[in-house]
Amino acid sequence: MTYFIGIDSSTTATKALLLTETGEVVGVASSTYDYETPKPLWSEQRPELWWTATAASIRQLLADTGVAPTAVSGIGLTGQMHGLVLLGKNGDVLRPALLWNDQRTGAECDEMRALIGKQRLIDITGNDALTGFTAPKILWVKNNEPEIYGRIAHILLPKDYVRYKLTGEFATDKAGGAGTQLFDVRQRDWSKEVVTKLSIDPAWLPKTFEGTAVTGHLTPTAAQATGLPTGIPVVAGGGDQAANAVGTGAVVDGVVALSLGTSGVVFASSDVPIVEPDGRLHAFCHAVPGKWHLMGVMLSAAGSLRWYRDALAPGVDFDTLLAPAADVPPGSEGLLFLPYLTGERTPHPDPLARGGFIGLTVRHSQPHLTRAVLEGVAFGLRDSLELMRGAGLANITQIRASGGGLRSPLWRQILADVLQAEIVTVNTTEGAAYGAAVLALVGAGVFASVEAACAALVRVTGRTEPGGDTAVYNQLYPIYQQLYPALKPTFTALANVTRE
Ligand code: XUL
Repeated sequence: MTYFIGIDSSTTATKALLLTETGEVVGVASSTYDYETPKPLWSEQRPELWWTATAASIRQLLADTGVAPTAVSGIGLTGQMHGLVLLGKNGDVLRPALLWNDQRTGAECDEMRALIGKQRLIDITGNDALTGFTAPKILWVKNNEPEIYGRIAHILLPKDYVRYKLTGEFATDKAGGAGTQLFDVRQRDWSKEVVTKLSIDPAWLPKTFEGTAVTGHLTPTAAQATGLPTGIPVVAGGGDQAANAVGTGAVVDGVVALSLGTSGVVFASSDVPIVEPDGRLHAFCHAVPGKWHLMGVMLSAAGSLRWYRDALAPGVDFDTLLAPAADVPPGSEGLLFLPYLTGERTPHPDPLARGGFIGLTVRHSQPHLTRAVLEGVAFGLRDSLELMRGAGLANITQIRASGGGLRSPLWRQILADVLQAEIVTVNTTEGAAYGAAVLALVGAGVFASVEAACAALVRVTGRTEPGGDTAVYNQLYPIYQQLYPALKPTFTALANVTRE
């Protein structure tokens, strides 16, 4: 029996997962760490943390499972996307990485639009400039830390720093590359035009590979640190969302992955590059070779429910909180909830957007508020789905759901009714690390393709069909859609007051 390891370097932990060649998970180990917010809007992490945590997790995994290190045949990488890692010419880390949730680059996003043209930027990269992406972070360092900028020799993404420590190679995957916003998304490689117009030295950029391609082999130093033998191949893998989609089988047209954690992500695989004309959806390369995907990201999904519980029903468990909401009529008797508690990304890229309950009357009780939160999050996710349908993905038939929020049958039913699609759960619940290990499995030739691997390994475990409540949701949805444009000036005014 041979084994494969998937490594996921997320914002809070690095997880190592061990998979058999037949796709069974035999163990998972993880090591946690923190990220820093040295100033408002900033979010940073030291790259060394990911490497230390990777080595510790692999050692733990081998110890826990008792699997012989020599039986490991491949490694796949995934992790938080968009982070900016800067290395000097000896591979030394120049400053803490700027993370995906860092919001300091508003001015640099405007600079990118001015240098390239907003429409041209969307045409080439698939996306409008966004504070979270990597490209504006590079401009920020240029504008604010010229001394560090002058010493840059390599630019990497977080998981590619782990790759560098494992293999000594500077490389990235196509999904991660697209998430930098320096990619020509159709050509699946760095855009000469964007790189030139942003005055970025192309020599800084790593080589790019499809998700299943081998990017290098374990060095003796890495072997010593991890307890694995030298020479193990490391495949490109993919950004966490693309790898998660592999893990849930969202690798063919028409199948959408919905991940309902703190944030909510709607992810649709596509055989052709599709770009939403206004750049409101992220359009990236998939971790599946030769495929693309569209993605909508809602910042407070299950995070909205957690806030609501903590603020209004502290200490109450979620089952107890949600049970009475099942008796409230769909539509919560005219009460709407806006889920923009931490600003929003899709479809309103606005850090100043705010949440709210709209339509409150004395008839409404706490279960109405609870149900309105579940419905408001579903409406926000429908915004992404409608943009996908409008951009040409008409045939969305099935949504493969994962994440803590999906444990509630009530929320699953509300989602099926609001999104008007079947919601299914699957047997593979380990997310991105599982997807990364599957990419390594395919890279080693165990399966002919990612699609074949997913067809063999990912099984549907539960289905929720849209029920009879779609009419009221269809009536309420356009009203929900009117709220953000109507309230935008209010949100800006409120931010000015609280900012002082
Ligand atoms: C994707 C995104 C997040 C990060 C952190 O666009 O920003 O998924 O990768 O997990």
